[in-house]
This record gives sequence, C-alpha cells and structure tokens, in this order.
Amino acid sequence: MKMMINHRDTEKLKLKIGNLKFEIYNFQFQISFSVLFVLLFTLITNAGAAGVYNSTRHGSPQTGVMRDPAAPRGSCRQCHSESGTAIKYPKSLWRENDNELCYACHRDETLSGVYPGQRVYDTATHRIDPRAAWPGPSPSPRKDMDAAGKCLNCHDPHGRQDRSGVIPNLLIAREETLCLSCHDGDPAGDILRDLRKPYSHLIRQGTGKHGSDEGGDPSRYSYTAGNRHAECSDCHNAHAVRHNTALQTAPAASESVLRVSRVRVFNGSPETIPGYQYIPAGDTGSPLLEYEICYKCHSSWTRQPAGQPDLARLFNTNNASFHPVEGPGKNTGIAPGSFVGGINAFSVIYCSDCHGSNDSNLRGPHGSQFPDILRRPYVTQDSGRSPERDELCFMCHNYDTYVSAASPAVFQQASRFNPPASSSGHVFHAGQRNVPCYTCHDSHGSAQFGALIVTRRNPGLLSFSMNSNGGSCLPTCHEQRSYTVNYPR
Ligand code: HEC
Ligand code: HEC
Ligand code: HEC
Ligand code: HEC
Ligand code: HEC
Ligand code: HEC
Ligand code: HEC
Ligand code: HEC
Ligand code: HEC
Repeated sequence: MKMMINHRDTEKLKLKIGNLKFEIYNFQFQISFSVLFVLLFTLITNAGAAGVYNSTRHGSPQTGVMRDPAAPRGSCRQCHSESGTAIKYPKSLWRENDNELCYACHRDETLSGVYPGQRVYDTATHRIDPRAAWPGPSPSPRKDMDAAGKCLNCHDPHGRQDRSGVIPNLLIAREETLCLSCHDGDPAGDILRDLRKPYSHLIRQGTGKHGSDEGGDPSRYSYTAGNRHAECSDCHNAHAVRHNTALQTAPAASESVLRVSRVRVFNGSPETIPGYQYIPAGDTGSPLLEYEICYKCHSSWTRQPAGQPDLARLFNTNNASFHPVEGPGKNTGIAPGSFVGGINAFSVIYCSDCHGSNDSNLRGPHGSQFPDILRRPYVTQDSGRSPERDELCFMCHNYDTYVSAASPAVFQQASRFNPPASSSGHVFHAGQRNVPCYTCHDSHGSAQFGALIVTRRNPGLLSFSMNSNGGSCLPTCHEQRSYTVNYPR
C-alpha cells in the first residue's frame, strides 16, 4: 500500500488506539500510507494496551525526553513535529534520522558508564563497520542507505516488548537475542555456534537476571541470591567494542572488552580472601585487565555455586605457586626448552588462553566442545591413557619434555622432575604410567605448594613437600618416595 496522500494542509492528525493517544501536527510534506500503517502497526503490536512508550525512560513525564520546552517532558513531540514548525524531515522528526538525533541528548556518558558517550561510540566497531546493520527478522531489517552504525540497530526510542514484557534499555530485542541476531555468522562473527556446543557460558539459558544497573552490588551476580547469570553485556560493552588490532600483552584486556566493569583485587597472604574493589565501566583511569572481568562472577566477591573454586584466591600472586594470570609466575628458573608456542617462564597469560573456543578462528570464552570451556581437551580423571599431543597443557608446555618417553634426553632434562636426576619423573608418570597432569597439578594455583602441586585427589597425592634440591611425596599409588631435581630452582 504505497498510495501517496498530500497532507500539506493537514491541521492536526490525531490517533487514538486503546489508551494511547498521540498527535502529529501540521504535516507539511507528503507522507505515505505505509508510514501510517507502520505507525498503527507499531502501536498495536508493540505498544500493547498499556503503551510501551509510557513505561520507558524516554516516556517518563518526570525524567523522560526533554528538548523543546513548549512540549511536555516525555512527549512524542520532543522528537516529532511541533505545531507551527515547518517539517523538513521524514517521519516528522525535528532533524535528520541519524545518530546526531540521539546525540542531541546523549552526547555524554551515563553515570554507570554503560553508555560511554559519542566520543567512544564513534570509534567503536558497531559504529564504523559497514556490516553493522540490523538484519531482522524481528523487527524487520534496517534498509536505510546509512543504516550501518546507527543506534537504531539496537535501540528503539519508543521501546518494545516481547513475551516477557517490556524490553529493558529501549533495546529492540532482549539480551543475547539482540547480539546473536547479528553474531550468528551473518553479518557478524558466529558466536552462536560456540554457544551451541556442549560446554558454554550458558548465556542462552538464563533471562532477566542481568541489568545494566547491576553495577557494583555483588548480590546482583550471586548464586545464593538466585541472580547468577552470564550475558554478552557482562563481558562486552556494545558501545565500545573494537576489533582487537593493537596487540595487548596479558593481563591487559582485548579491545573487544573495552569499557566493561570489573573487580580489582588487593592480594594478602595465601589462603586469605583478597581485598576487592569494584571498577565501573566508565573508569578509564585504571587499566582494564581481563581476569578482573571474570572475578565479577568467579571469585568470592560474589557468592558462587557450591564447589566452584574462588579463582581470586587461587591466582593470588603471594601463593606458593600459580599460573601467571595476575602477574609473572614465581618459578622463573624453569628451562626455556620445556616451553613451546613462544611462552617462557616470565610470560603472563590470559584466562582466555586456556578457556575459549576449540575453533582456532574464534576468540573469547563463549563455548567449546571440551569440558570447562577449554580450548583443547584436558583429562581430569584417571583415564588410563597418557596425555596426547593436542591437549591443553601442550599449547605452552613441551610434550616432549613432559610425556614423550621417546624424546631426546635434552628435552626431558628441561623439566626438573625427570631423568637423569630422578629415575621416575614426568615422562615416566604421564608418558608411561598413564597418570594425567591433573593427578598432581592444579590448573590455577596452589596456596601451599610449589609447582601447582595439589593434594587430596584420588588417585593423587596424600602429602607433598619440597626441599632445596628435590622433594618427597606420598601418593595413593605407592609408598612415600623422594626425588632430586635436574637443575636448581
Ligand atoms: C527520542 C526521540 C523520539 C521520541 C520521544 C518518539 N519518537 Fe517516534 N521516532 C523516532 C525516531 C528516531 C524514529 C525513526 C525510527 C527508525 O528509523 O527506525 C521514529 C519513528 C516513528 C514512527 C514511524 C515508524 C516507522 O517505522 O517508520 C512513528 C509512527 C513514531 N515514531 C511515533 C511516535 C510516537 C507515537 C511517539 C510518542 C509515543 C514517539 N514516536 C516518540 C524518535 C522518537
Ligand atoms: C530529547 C532528548 C533525547 C533524545 C533526542 C534521545 N534521548 Fe534517549 N534518553 C533521554 C532521557 C532524558 C533518558 C532518560 C535518562 C534517565 O532516566 O536517566 C534517555 C534514556 C535513553 C536510554 C536508556 C533507557 C533505559 O531504560 O535505560 C537509551 C537506550 C536511549 N535513551 C537511547 C536513545 C536513542 C537510541 C536515541 C536516538 C534515537 C535517543 N535516546 C534520543 C533523552 C533523549
Ligand atoms: C550493538 C548494539 C548497540 C548499539 C549500536 C547501541 N547500543 Fe546502547 N545499549 C546496548 C545494550 C546491549 C545496552 C544495555 C547494556 C547492559 O545491559 O549492560 C545499551 C544501553 C544503552 C544506554 C543505557 C546506559 C545506562 O547507563 O543505563 C544508553 C543511554 C544507550 N545504550 C544509548 C545508546 C546510543 C545513544 C547509541 C548510539 C549512539 C547506542 N546506545 C548504540 C546496545 C547498543
Ligand atoms: C564471560 C565473558 C564473555 C561473555 C559472556 C561473552 N563474551 Fe564475547 N568475548 C569475551 C572475551 C574475553 C573476548 C576477547 C578474547 C580475545 O580478544 O582474546 C570475546 C570476544 C568476542 C568477539 C570477537 C571474536 C573474534 O574472534 O573476533 C565477539 C564477536 C564476541 N565476543 C561476541 C559476544 C557475544 C555476541 C556474546 C553473547 C552471546 C558474548 N560475546 C559473550 C568474553 C565474553
Ligand atoms: C546489527 C548487527 C550487530 C548487533 C546487533 C551486534 N553486533 Fe557486534 N558486531 C557486528 C559487526 C558487523 C561486527 C564487526 C564484524 C565482526 O567482528 O564480526 C561486530 C563486532 C563485535 C565485536 C568485536 C569483534 C572483534 O573483532 O573483536 C564484539 C565483541 C561484538 N560485536 C559484541 C556484540 C555484542 C555483545 C552485542 C550485543 C549487545 C552485539 N555485538 C550486537 C554487528 C552486530
Ligand atoms: C557475569 C558473570 C560471569 C562473568 C563476568 C564470567 N563468568 Fe564464567 N560463568 C558464569 C556462569 C553463570 C557460568 C555457568 C556455571 C556456573 O554457574 O558456575 C560460568 C561458567 C564458566 C566456566 C565453565 C565452568 C563449568 O563448570 O563448566 C568457565 C571456564 C568460565 N565461566 C570462565 C570465565 C572466564 C575466563 C571469564 C572472564 C573472561 C568469565 N568466566 C566471566 C558467569 C560469569
Ligand atoms: C593454564 C590454563 C588455565 C588458565 C590460565 C585458567 N584456567 Fe580455568 N581451568 C583450567 C582447566 C584445565 C580447568 C579444568 C580442570 C580443573 O577444574 O582444574 C579449569 C577450570 C575452570 C573452571 C571450572 C572449575 C570447576 O571446578 O567447576 C572455572 C570456573 C575456571 N577454570 C575459570 C577460570 C578463570 C576465571 C580464569 C582466569 C581468572 C582461569 N580459569 C584461568 C585451565 C586454566
Ligand atoms: C606424578 C605427579 C606429577 C604428574 C603426573 C605431573 N607432574 Fe608436573 N610436576 C610434578 C612435581 C613433583 C613437580 C615439581 C618439580 C620440582 O620439585 O621443582 C612438577 C613440576 C612441573 C612443572 C614445573 C617445571 C618443571 O618441569 O620442573 C611443570 C611445567 C609441570 N610439572 C607440568 C606438568 C604437565 C604438563 C604434566 C602432564 C603432562 C605434569 N606436570 C604431570 C609432578 C607431576
Ligand atoms: C597459555 C600457556 C599455558 C598453558 C596452556 C598451560 N600453562 Fe602451565 N605455565 C605457563 C607458564 C607461562 C608458566 C610459568 C610460570 C612460572 O614461571 O612460575 C607455567 C607454569 C606451570 C607449572 C609450574 C608452576 C610453578 O610455579 O612452578 C605447572 C605445574 C604447570 N604450568 C602446569 C600446567 C598444566 C598441568 C597445564 C595444562 C592443564 C598447563 N600448565 C597449561 C603457561 C601455560
């Protein structure tokens, strides 16, 4: 229905649907029936009887939109035509339908920092990538020439509702439904594929727990309070994401997670809970570290599910040992030959170096085919087989040092716990006796023991101690034994 009518002389166009009334004055240009149709359609399907707009922040008579003092705060007329004014712009908007319209009131960042303002948005991928245009189907695809980069690809200034009610933050779709409409491979990177894998961040499972206002209140993330969740916006700020071109070094976070809130730690002695400080999304004075984002949910800052480790305690840099996530490790004398992949004993690594997609072309800890969202398989029980070359640890540690009994002696000697100093070290256990790394090592940290040694696993170590040139252990598998190291610590 594209019948054109001329409203040049229309005095006042008044529509009343249900409880909802609105007026558009003085149409001075041509509008098509299709606009009217959409208008009616919008109201019927979207506004519902109660009127979505009235329950949005834009629609509030107290705190809503305000530009033109002649019209009431929160009214349609703050954005659409005013009486007595010549209308030059389509949809009877007071200016062109582009981001400047939004910037008129949203130039600056919000208090929470979740919306970081024009300066940041104008450099973000979602603003500059020509593919960043809403693909539909619901609401229908954006077809305007300059669609890419518009706020309207994610927001509807009138508000929308779905089956669960009014969608928060004036978004056009709820939570991950919004992001995955584009991030399903077309037009943007396929995150959906990872979320469909057997192990994922359960982003699609929970709804309504995340809020842009959750900020620094730990109970909003708490398992015991029933608020545990993980949404795209917990780890990404859609207004700031950038393609990660500058190559950061850990722990500095990827530009894909710019302007995200996080939890900083101040480490005390081993075993103790560190001091925590919530850093809001808008804080650019302090560095943005990837692990701090994870600590919003994976540390005792909030309440975790029973049995889930407190990662902030395990990665405490005052611990006896830890994987070097918060800072360089303590065991910096480990021989270079025991590492692979450009890693050495001084390297600092990301959580996402281990937790991420099993597909090498997708970054980020969204989902994986392997348990615990690991990038490679890792055996966590006595499987009766020796670890294979493609397993997680060997992205950084040398398989020929730790497993392969057939490897040259020079490789094996790169570990302290191997022949010749010790007759039965890594290669004997992991390579010949099918003892997985997990039996003796924690993956994250150990408050008490050096070398990430863990006790109380079965099979595993009942007790362990280190001395200046070796150590001694009592495992579930044999009697107490001592060993000597290949080179000093
Ligand atoms: C904050 C500014 C703002 C306010 C307030 C506002 N609108 Fe809009 N309106 C827009 C923008 C921007 C568009 C263009 C949307 C697009 O291109 O998708 C629009 C488009 C429309 C359209 C055309 C729909 C279409 O898809 O072509 C109608 C009808 C409409 N608005 C009605 C209203 C009514 C009724 C109210 C009050 C209940 C209202 N608007 C309040 C900004 C606003
Ligand atoms: C005339 C001023 C004005 C214009 C134009 C305007 N806004 Fe707003 N916007 C506001 C005000 C006022 C609020 C409410 C702030 C509050 O409640 O703290 C708001 C809030 C929002 C929110 C937060 C809603 C929530 O529930 O958290 C979003 C998102 C938003 N605007 C998007 C847009 C977009 C997109 C555009 C352009 C299409 C736009 N706004 C145009 C004034 C405006
Ligand atoms: C790629 C999607 C996307 C685009 C494009 C986008 N936003 Fe948002 N916006 C979001 C999401 C998602 C949230 C809610 C974040 C959350 O839940 O933590 C949000 C929240 C907001 C808020 C509320 C922030 C607060 O502190 O409560 C404002 C205001 C806002 N957006 C304005 C804008 C404006 C203005 C533009 C364009 C200049 C824009 N957005 C473009 C996805 C987007
Ligand atoms: C638990 C935190 C977390 C959640 C939840 C999360 N992401 Fe990510 N995502 C990351 C991190 C961290 C990176 C960056 C990794 C890097 O650059 O090494 C990333 C990277 C990405 C990338 C870039 C991928 C690439 O290879 O270019 C996209 C796109 C993305 N995320 C989209 C999403 C979407 C969409 C959702 C929700 C469905 C989501 N993310 C949920 C943490 C998260
Ligand atoms: C309108 C389509 C669209 C929507 C909706 C959208 N994105 Fe994107 N996004 C893109 C495009 C296009 C790119 C650039 C191409 C790419 O990296 O896949 C991109 C890039 C990204 C990147 C950076 C990837 C990199 O290269 O490092 C992240 C992270 C991201 N989006 C997260 C999100 C999140 C989180 C949401 C939901 C709040 C979201 N996106 C919603 C289209 C969209
Ligand atoms: C907003 C909360 C939140 C943030 C932030 C977050 N996660 Fe998670 N994570 C979850 C939830 C919820 C689960 C599902 C299992 C659960 O409840 O523990 C989960 C599960 C995981 C799992 C799988 C554990 C299992 O039992 O299968 C890993 C690994 C993980 N997250 C790593 C990370 C990493 C790495 C980061 C930082 C880049 C991060 N998470 C940030 C909430 C979060
Ligand atoms: C060196 C690799 C590595 C790094 C770095 C790493 N992890 Fe892990 N993570 C693992 C492995 C392997 C497992 C599975 C075996 C286990 O539970 O120890 C695991 C398990 C987990 C689990 C599930 C634990 C459970 O018992 O349910 C969570 C949650 C987790 N990691 C979060 C994180 C977070 C958050 C970070 C960064 C602060 C991180 N990991 C850094 C290797 C790593
Ligand atoms: C039977 C127990 C046991 C198993 C199984 C085991 N380790 Fe160890 N690992 C040790 C002990 C004991 C040390 C401490 C050596 C010392 O005293 O410095 C150690 C030290 C290390 C070190 C520190 C550097 C070095 O080699 O001296 C790395 C790295 C390491 N192990 C990796 C692995 C990997 C990878 C696996 C699985 C392929 C594995 N370990 C399996 C007992 C074990
Ligand atoms: C992304 C790279 C990376 C991966 C993957 C990785 N590690 Fe490490 N690991 C390191 C680095 C770097 C160090 C050196 C830390 C130091 O010097 O204290 C290290 C040190 C260790 C140590 C000795 C710690 C100490 O303080 O003595 C052990 C044991 C260890 N790793 C076991 C493992 C096991 C088991 C796996 C597989 C689950 C694994 N690592 C996977 C990078 C990695």
